[in-house]
Amino acid sequence: MRRFKWTDKYRIGIEEIDHQHMEIFDAINKLYEHLTSSSGDNSGFETVLLKLKKYIDNHFSTEMKYFVIFNYHNLSHHNKEHQQFSEKIMSYCNMDILSNKDKHDLYYILETWFEKHILNSDMDFRDSISFNNK
Ligand SMILES: [Fe+2]
Ligand SMILES: [Fe+2]
Repeated sequence: MRRFKWTDKYRIGIEEIDHQHMEIFDAINKLYEHLTSSSGDNSGFETVLLKLKKYIDNHFSTEMKYFVIFNYHNLSHHNKEHQQFSEKIMSYCNMDILSNKDKHDLYYILETWFEKHILNSDMDFRDSISFNNK
């Protein structure tokens, strides 16, 4: 388990998307702090999770807006990745009580999915724009 650190390798080059990715990283890091807090205070975890879910849904809508603007050839596949991930996160939001194991499992999903999705799928979108503009 690790904290997310923003670096240029995550930069898409569309300010609105980059800003939202940073916002999502910040919220994931807040969850990390709750999970690793020495006081063992996890009470705010659910609140941060709901906020993160909002950021994520808003972010996926924003990306969809750009996909349409740029007539992105991989729109439906990319959108499917978003939907599946969103449903997975929703299932955690809907749990009445999150055990410590649930929280760690969720964190693992967040940390691995975003890294992979930004570096592969979001970058695929970025590459398709630069290709079109050549
Ligand atoms: Fe993204
Ligand atoms: Fe995406």
